[in-house]
Amino acid sequence: MRLLFVTSEAYPLAKTGGLADVSRSLPAALERQGAEVIVMIPAYPRAVMQLRDAKVSARIGPVFGITDGVLITGTFPDCDMRVVLVSSATLFGRAGGLYQDDHGVDWTDNGLRFAYFSKVAAELAVGGIDIGWRPDVVHANDWHTGLLPYFIANHEGARPRTVFTTHNMAFQGNFEHGQVPDIGAGDFEFYGKISYLKAGLRYADRVTTVSPTYAHEILTSEYGFGLEGVLAGRGSHFSGILNGIDEIIWNPATDHFLAANYRPRETAGKRVCKRELQRELGLALAPDVPVIGFVSRLTEQKMADALVEALPWIAASGAQLAVVGEGDRGIEAALADAAELHPALSAMVGYDETLAHKLQAGSDILLAPARFEPCGLTQLYALKYGTLPVVRRTGGLADTVVDTNNLSICDRSASGFVFDEPTTDGMISALSRALALYRDQLHWRLVQLQAMTRSFGWDRSAGAYMDPYRGVTGIAPKWREEETGDDEDNARRAAG
Ligand code: ADP
Ligand code: GLC
Repeated sequence: MRLLFVTSEAYPLAKTGGLADVSRSLPAALERQGAEVIVMIPAYPRAVMQLRDAKVSARIGPVFGITDGVLITGTFPDCDMRVVLVSSATLFGRAGGLYQDDHGVDWTDNGLRFAYFSKVAAELAVGGIDIGWRPDVVHANDWHTGLLPYFIANHEGARPRTVFTTHNMAFQGNFEHGQVPDIGAGDFEFYGKISYLKAGLRYADRVTTVSPTYAHEILTSEYGFGLEGVLAGRGSHFSGILNGIDEIIWNPATDHFLAANYRPRETAGKRVCKRELQRELGLALAPDVPVIGFVSRLTEQKMADALVEALPWIAASGAQLAVVGEGDRGIEAALADAAELHPALSAMVGYDETLAHKLQAGSDILLAPARFEPCGLTQLYALKYGTLPVVRRTGGLADTVVDTNNLSICDRSASGFVFDEPTTDGMISALSRALALYRDQLHWRLVQLQAMTRSFGWDRSAGAYMDPYRGVTGIAPKWREEETGDDEDNARRAAG
């Protein structure tokens, strides 16, 4: 099965969050399942610089008035997986962020940038642009690629099948009509705007999201951000598949960013990492003082505002706090000010991949609360690194962390601390339970071992993605009947 995986970011070529990690690790796992994969992202300067064996493989004719497009093919810098970069100096060649300028303001032409990206991906997928390879399935991710299933669905003639994954219903790519090029008329109107997310949800052959609990939640008005009805309309063609993690990149036994490596039952290296983190962040070098880590976008989704409210409590708790994050400018300033004032609090405002690894290894507790969380990867990394996560019972957090209590300690399922109310008090009560367990080192180590030995690698979930892929292509026998019944094109594919 040939799969085109289309995404706006992929680690290490370009990353702002978990989408990049998934866009690297899921395609790699799908290759292990036997799929032939090409990952497609925009040719941001940082991606072009890192691409290995880069060559221009096709010129792109005029699309939406953009005439400087080319496709650049190559591989990831650190593995052989194939990549296609969609290059246009006009749209993607600029310095600054992937979606925003250096002041955190969205690029005003994002509507055009990602309509163009999606249109070029669609052209490649249906053979309008020739790189000597055509996919059976196109997997589009998040609002940036929402128009892609729409463009492909509108193509007359043979077309690949499409799967669309929403990684976060809060980011919708809703644009005024004037900000969108001429994409024709479709069912993607949303409160007077054009919603790229809605297009993806509406026109893909299958829709998925990144955890089973989030899949249930976003069918409700509380979590669906107005698009719950569209999702409900997809019926059994919508499902939740839990993200996995890359166990080579995120593994304390091999992580080359760490001062020392460690593994379950051999955790001496974690103490070295803790000391190194304390040193780097200017915290007291106190081996027995618990370090609470927080590595995240600083937004309301992540309850970063609640973290700010909890700072006096944390400062008085006797623990140390290590924050690495960027986002809301007010929250950044509040954290930096508190760190200035209190020796037990530290904050690195900015984005630092290396420090994120060091923080996971050097902290004792990872604070990862959220008002909503489609999946969340940092709590999965924390489990692997023996850093017990404190999370809210929502989305993927609820699916991956088991609260510590007498029962779960006895049956060896405990792996962290879970709270229900999305409030500062709710968060503090779980945090205080974590600090209490830390003082009971015997039980702490038991739960830590349990956390480290849970498996969140991709292989099971990658297998689960093969179902929708096979479902839409008709390639697998178990789906063939359903698909060929109402779809001539699939019948032809299935026949050979
Ligand atoms: P989301 O994608 O919603 O931000 P995830 O938990 O899925 O949340 O993924 C976040 C990813 O971004 C993780 O790889 C995490 O380590 C990384 N990350 C978040 N903030 C920072 C930061 N300031 N510096 C470095 N890495 C960060
Ligand atoms: C989004 C979500 C996060 C998820 C990530 C990867 O950024 O906010 O919960 O882990 O995508 O799927």
